[in-house]
Amino acid sequence: MSDADSRTIVITGVTRGLGRALVEKFTALGHTVIGCGRKFEAVEAVRRALDPDPYLSIVDVLDAESVQAWALDVQDRFGSPDFLINNAGIAHAGVPFWELAKADFDAVIDINVKGPANVMRAFLPGMIARGSGIVVNLSSGVGRFAVEHYAAYVASKYAVEGLSKAVAKDLPAGLACIPLSPGVVDTDMLRDHWGEERSGQEASPAAWAEVAAPYILGLTAADNGESLRISPGA
Ligand SMILES: NC(=O)c1ccc[n+]([C@@H]2O[C@H](COP(=O)([O-])OP(=O)(O)OC[C@H]3O[C@@H](n4cnc5c(N)ncnc54)[C@H](OP(=O)(O)O)[C@@H]3O)[C@@H](O)[C@H]2O)c1
Repeated sequence: MSDADSRTIVITGVTRGLGRALVEKFTALGHTVIGCGRKFEAVEAVRRALDPDPYLSIVDVLDAESVQAWALDVQDRFGSPDFLINNAGIAHAGVPFWELAKADFDAVIDINVKGPANVMRAFLPGMIARGSGIVVNLSSGVGRFAVEHYAAYVASKYAVEGLSKAVAKDLPAGLACIPLSPGVVDTDMLRDHWGEERSGQEASPAAWAEVAAPYILGLTAADNGESLRISPGA
């Protein structure tokens, strides 16, 4: 790949699942990949597994100060990213709303909504100053229709849709903020919260990334504010 084709891509939550699969695919394609995770050993395991190794940091997206410091470091080293992918997220046990502990409700809203907000707040000023860049916020099908027993997760992904569309309205020309539903993929999140029996029927993260990575690289400022979806089987 020529330098002109290489993209600088920042991804949150890279230790497992979709985030890790995207890091692996973008690295294999020759792009400059920057990521974060909250557990040292898990982050190091991803870094050691890849050649060239991506630039990975220990950052919890909930910690706004840590996110700001990470963004400054990344922009010093690599400039503002071409793509900023807010992937980090959590789900919760499937129970009626009134049986979900407040702590679990709060954790899902905090990580899934305030996390991407913290990351956008830290990176967008640099991207705006440069005049280009695409923000992709991982949403969900259940950010567009409700399902039973996942009130906090559904609410968080509706919020991701709304946040992304509102930020899209604020952005100047040349940039985009896009809520992206990844489809259904066989990750720990699916197995832990939606059941082992369902997981075997869905695409693996690696198979998903074969479709998702080129799809994301094809997004442009013309997609600003659009609710988009990846079909892993496509
Ligand atoms: N899998 C699906 O079918 C599906 C469908 C719709 C939407 N999504 C969305 O896609 C995204 C990725 O999901 P996934 O299935 O890959 O989930 P996953 O397998 O559970 O992986 C989630 C990743 O996010 C990281 N993370 C969680 N909280 C974090 C925090 N506060 N700071 C930094 N990193 C954090 C996790 O790191 P740790 O190792 O530290 O926990 C992990 O690397 C999520 O936003 C999810 O809601 C997934």
